[in-house]
Amino acid sequence: MANLATTWMGLPLRSPLIVASSGLTRGLEDIRACEKAGAGAVVLKSVFEEQILAELRSMGVGSIEGPEHPEGDDYVARYGRRHAIDEALETLSQCRREVGIPVIASIHCATAEGWQEFAVRAAEAGAAGIELNVFIPPMSPERDGASIEQVYFDVARSVRQVVGIPVSLKIAPYFSGLARTAVLLSREVQGLVLFNRFVHLDIDLDRLEVVTTRAFSDPRDLEAPLRWTALLAGRVHCDLAVTTGVHDGEGAAKALLAGASAVQVCSALYRHGIEHLRTMADGLVAFMERHRFARVSDFRGRLAQSHLESPAVWERAQFMKVQAGIE
Ligand SMILES: Cc1cc2nc3c(=O)[nH]c(=O)nc-3n(C[C@H](O)[C@H](O)[C@H](O)COP(=O)(O)O)c2cc1C
Repeated sequence: MANLATTWMGLPLRSPLIVASSGLTRGLEDIRACEKAGAGAVVLKSVFEEQILAELRSMGVGSIEGPEHPEGDDYVARYGRRHAIDEALETLSQCRREVGIPVIASIHCATAEGWQEFAVRAAEAGAAGIELNVFIPPMSPERDGASIEQVYFDVARSVRQVVGIPVSLKIAPYFSGLARTAVLLSREVQGLVLFNRFVHLDIDLDRLEVVTTRAFSDPRDLEAPLRWTALLAGRVHCDLAVTTGVHDGEGAAKALLAGASAVQVCSALYRHGIEHLRTMADGLVAFMERHRFARVSDFRGRLAQSHLESPAVWERAQFMKVQAGIE
């Protein structure tokens, strides 16, 4: 039988299928269920920067308020989980005693200030790694790209300074120079997770309202992470993981062929239940057996595009080829 073992950020995993940070990964029982269904690792539900800062304020620690957090308290109140930090730390300590797979803590942040203490406490509580979901939608006309990019570096460095466990950055594709930024960021962390999935918006023509839509991804959403993983694998200095659009074993196989070390799965597990991890693992094993791959390392990165001297020229060529085929 094909062996699914791999490594992610130096952590040995029995399978490349990681359960992504979400409501499926909040407490000990959730994580036990992931382990039972065959997950290689779990990323805990994120603690949000706003939650950490609100808790510090409520304890009278400093006045961490600024232009970045004017709505922080309101947001946390609406989010309704004031004790998220204690819960996350308690879950990590329980997992250290009762779970055999790596459990990675997650911080959802937009600045590099105020929450490093949580990273330290998460490491002490037994987190195998820290995932930093940096969420800075580049939507302010007042803010230039360089200042936004700088935050990603500041965030990565500030955490690497205070913890010894591996750190990953979960990023969005919204950089004007994505390839270069990813290569530079890859010197700061052990893993890059491609890509954050944003809220999708639409316009309701009956109610004349902007509405959120597509809370869950579908398999076509794999295209962008796949393309960028293939382009970046072999060029970056850290591991890559794919998130967004991995719904089955075939999707996972594609991500690994493109050069990912692991995949992070969420929507498919909400849709089909945590047991779907088994079906995904079976699909991956079936792919490996069809091609006589005994181990993940036999095919991981085989379709990475690092041999391309000029990926941009290649992309233009594909674009022209497709258009010529249609006209
Ligand atoms: C209900 C829900 C909650 C999520 N919560 C978080 C979160 O707290 N932190 C985070 O980094 N990502 C969060 N995500 C994003 C997922 O971790 C994942 O990266 C994303 O959904 C793309 O993977 P998928 O296509 O398999 O859904 C959430 C996604 C969903 C659907």
